[in-house]
Amino acid sequence: MEHLLLVGASSFIGGEIYKQAKEQGIHIIGTATKPKNPEWYPFDLAEDDITEVLAASGLMDALKRGEEVQTIVTAFYCGNERTVTNLPFAERVNLWGTQQMLDRFHALGIHTLWFSTEHIFSGRDGLAPYTEEALSCPVFAYGRHKAEIECYIKEKMPEMLIYRLSQNIDVNPVGIQILSEVYERQKTEKHFRSIKGQIISPTYIGDTAKWALEGLRRHLSGIYHCANPEYMERADFVRRFLKALGSDATVEAVPVETFGFKEGRPLDTRMSIEKLKKAIPELSFHSVNWVFAEFIRRQKG
Ligand SMILES: NC(=O)c1ccc[n+]([C@@H]2O[C@H](COP(=O)([O-])OP(=O)(O)OC[C@H]3O[C@@H](n4cnc5c(N)ncnc54)[C@H](OP(=O)(O)O)[C@@H]3O)[C@@H](O)[C@H]2O)c1
Repeated sequence: MEHLLLVGASSFIGGEIYKQAKEQGIHIIGTATKPKNPEWYPFDLAEDDITEVLAASGLMDALKRGEEVQTIVTAFYCGNERTVTNLPFAERVNLWGTQQMLDRFHALGIHTLWFSTEHIFSGRDGLAPYTEEALSCPVFAYGRHKAEIECYIKEKMPEMLIYRLSQNIDVNPVGIQILSEVYERQKTEKHFRSIKGQIISPTYIGDTAKWALEGLRRHLSGIYHCANPEYMERADFVRRFLKALGSDATVEAVPVETFGFKEGRPLDTRMSIEKLKKAIPELSFHSVNWVFAEFIRRQKG
């Protein structure tokens, strides 16, 4: 890999990819909407043209010299409730802006990895574990936007790579992630509620980043599921983490309707990872217990 553009270096997963790429000596250019890191370039999917970042960063010159430029895109207007709450803006970023950027990459011959989600499935049809060929059937706006971009890529740019991810977790107690949230809340709360029947495959962010870089290095194309094969009901995941923390807080699994969300939520969206295993036979994932132990060790340290 000669050059890598990371659109959304400021994201939870993007931060880990940026770190690993640097450790591997890859020449990486990052973007953020309002960069906090002076190395990053400003880029907003709602209004900017990615070719300006390519030009300003020297990647356009690299392309002209015939050098390989690859891209990972984490940028997306994420969030289950906020996507439907701010739908016109979310559509501008996730649909219009993403399509325009992908068109540019395609025209310039830039091989791209774009992240989708298990939530393009409903998880309510009994078809889990889903294969890559299963038909998408999203039940909320975030999943519908992801499914729409997947179709766009499949139809117009089949050389591109899509990884469908599950819930990512990190050993570092920073940022917005479920372990940090539960860790903070259990200091004052003794009772948690969780969506009944929602299955997650909690995946260590370090593994996602590693297999993302490896997928690009191997020039994979098409759709792959990239998730920890370990899965559990969300409530069980929280219970196990609370137990590991030594907390006596309880977790109740309650029907999704209890939460009063604007839209429904997917339930059992487990995905088969056999296709990625064949493409990258070295593929492995850290266990959830390892992530818990490492998170707790860092808290104490
Ligand atoms: N985290 C998970 O568990 C998970 C699971 C399944 C799929 N995914 C997918 O993986 C990708 C990364 O997830 P994440 O959790 O790391 O994301 P995140 O932390 O929520 O970050 C979202 C990223 O999108 C960027 N972004 C938002 N609006 C933008 C705009 N208008 N223009 C340009 N960039 C914009 C943000 O940039 P700024 O911060 O600079 O504004 C940020 O870098 C996403 O596509 C997500 O859907 C994540």
